[in-house]
Amino acid sequence: MRGHGGFLRWREKSWVLLAEVDPGSGQSPAGTSPAWSDVGRDDRPPSVDLRTDVPHAARLYDYFLGGKDNFAADREAAARVLEIFPGVATGARANRRFLGRAVRFAADLGVRQYLDIGTGIPAADNTHEVAQSVATDSRVVYVDNDPIVLTHARALLHGTPEGRTAYLDADFRDHRRILSAPETAGLIDFARPVALLTVALLHFIPDEAEPGEVLERYKAALPPGSVLIFSHATGDLVDDPEESRAVVGTYSGAGVNLTVRSREQVKEFFSGWDLVEPGIVPVSEWRPDGNLHDAALRTSQAGAFAGVAVKPA
Ligand SMILES: C[S@@+](CC[C@H](N)C(=O)[O-])C[C@H]1O[C@@H](n2cnc3c(N)ncnc32)[C@H](O)[C@@H]1O
Repeated sequence: MRGHGGFLRWREKSWVLLAEVDPGSGQSPAGTSPAWSDVGRDDRPPSVDLRTDVPHAARLYDYFLGGKDNFAADREAAARVLEIFPGVATGARANRRFLGRAVRFAADLGVRQYLDIGTGIPAADNTHEVAQSVATDSRVVYVDNDPIVLTHARALLHGTPEGRTAYLDADFRDHRRILSAPETAGLIDFARPVALLTVALLHFIPDEAEPGEVLERYKAALPPGSVLIFSHATGDLVDDPEESRAVVGTYSGAGVNLTVRSREQVKEFFSGWDLVEPGIVPVSEWRPDGNLHDAALRTSQAGAFAGVAVKPA
């Protein structure tokens, strides 16, 4: 059976689906093969295999946020999750608003450099938009390992003339590459405070990949005054633990690894850094700014804990 994978290519300022591919062989069907030979001859990004036939974490999240960058497989998996946990969409939006408030908090502290790992598909209030609304010279390095996010890299690269943004296609686990990549070195001065964002990311890193150990490598590379902006899915907030188990099962059935963690486990990720008030709380309760949706959200719908910490001197 032929799947619905496809290749996108940047053409005339937008991405076009060139041809469906056989997910088994990765080849486009005979007669529809695009002119691959010219790919890479100019500054256009390379073609990207989106595997639209299988759900992706970034596209599920985009769907929950009300975005349009998702495909039938994503929507089917999202519908199954919504059936078990209808609060997932409101929780996702609350998480996104937390990201905006926390970036503003870091910007107000004077931070001008951001390393945003697990960027996601561009949505409302991307990190550079919030940071540069406070200080136009803010610089942001975006990192994600999902091909769909790569296709949006150009949208993420539009910063203010004074500020700059870069995009790196890399895996959180590859801390050596991310910390030393030219994209990072070009924008981030590790002698000055950096805001490290791992927002709604680490629940996609299973225990065996040691997310805490990897996060420590990033934390160690940053100077005092740096800020960790963090959120993480949890089963602690739901009324019925079975709900949480069913959501995890639905994600893994769709091929997306999801590891929910307890408040105590989330606290470990901040170890050695000073948590700012109000500490680790449901995403909607981290320094709320009067948004009515946050005010109306029940704790059990938040689905994730959030926290912000500063590296001590
Ligand atoms: C739920 S979205 C969060 C997006 C954004 N941080 C936010 O909170 O609005 C999670 C993102 O993490 C990315 N991701 C998952 N595993 C990753 C990994 N190992 N390395 C880099 N990015 C990853 C996914 O592709 C997705 O874009």
